[in-house]
Amino acid sequence: MTEGIMRHGASAAIVGRKLDRLTESAKELSQATGQTCMPAQADVRQPHQLKEAVAKTIEKFGRIDFVICGAAGNFLATIDGMSENAFKTVMEIDTMGTFNTIKATLPHLRASRGAYIHVSTTLHYKATPYQVHVSAAKAGIDALSAVLAVEEGPRGVRSNVVAPGPIGNTEGMSRLSNQAGRKDNSYPLGRIGHLQDVANAAVFLFSDAASYISGQVLPVDGGWEHMRTFQ
Ligand code: HXC
Repeated sequence: MTEGIMRHGASAAIVGRKLDRLTESAKELSQATGQTCMPAQADVRQPHQLKEAVAKTIEKFGRIDFVICGAAGNFLATIDGMSENAFKTVMEIDTMGTFNTIKATLPHLRASRGAYIHVSTTLHYKATPYQVHVSAAKAGIDALSAVLAVEEGPRGVRSNVVAPGPIGNTEGMSRLSNQAGRKDNSYPLGRIGHLQDVANAAVFLFSDAASYISGQVLPVDGGWEHMRTFQ
């Protein structure tokens, strides 16, 4: 998503826990797009670290127009097999991390009349076993985004959610899913999702073409969510 908007002229700051990986990714993004990308180290569970990352970003670029809240933890575990701390960890990364990111950036988004995209999933639309932590966390994010849209709309701030379905070449899919062996013709559009599909949704939602779209969830799943198969 960041690469997509950089290809349309944006500079970017990317946030994560591990500075070496961030620095490498920032270099790759700059090289691929010809735009500036800076690493800004922070754990989204630590509000003061996020505030420092935002201060660095403002120092470098002077403003923030767009924010993507995408930090996520995930693993497969049943309710019975999951510790209280495991559930709390994912809630803290996904839901609290989103809230903390909003708190750290909102004054700047108000100033720029900017826009948020929060990254959710479609997993919680129906009960997905082994995903109770993520389902609860992402349902919270969908709700949080809608309230943000309504509260901050009068100040010109928009907030939407992108909810990817099965997307190939992602850490989530390779670690968590058995989609790898699935035939392309079993997807409604005849193929798995591409990273570019998600990037395109971000470019659209951040563009003026989406200036009257706020408080919405946009699944990018090629219709996967609606598909029923007879076993
Ligand atoms: C059960 C687990 C576990 C597992 C961690 N825990 N992994 N429990 N099964 N596989 C428990 C730990 O035992 C511990 O509880 C608690 O969670 C915290 O774990 P830590 O490792 O101490 O925390 P931390 O270092 O903060 O890392 C947590 C984590 C990491 C970020 C969730 O474990 C992780 O899974 N990282 C991968 C992130 C990832 O894949 N992101 C992509 C998401 S994509 P106890 O009780 O022992 O203290 C996505 C799309 C889904 O979500 C698409 C699916 C098709």
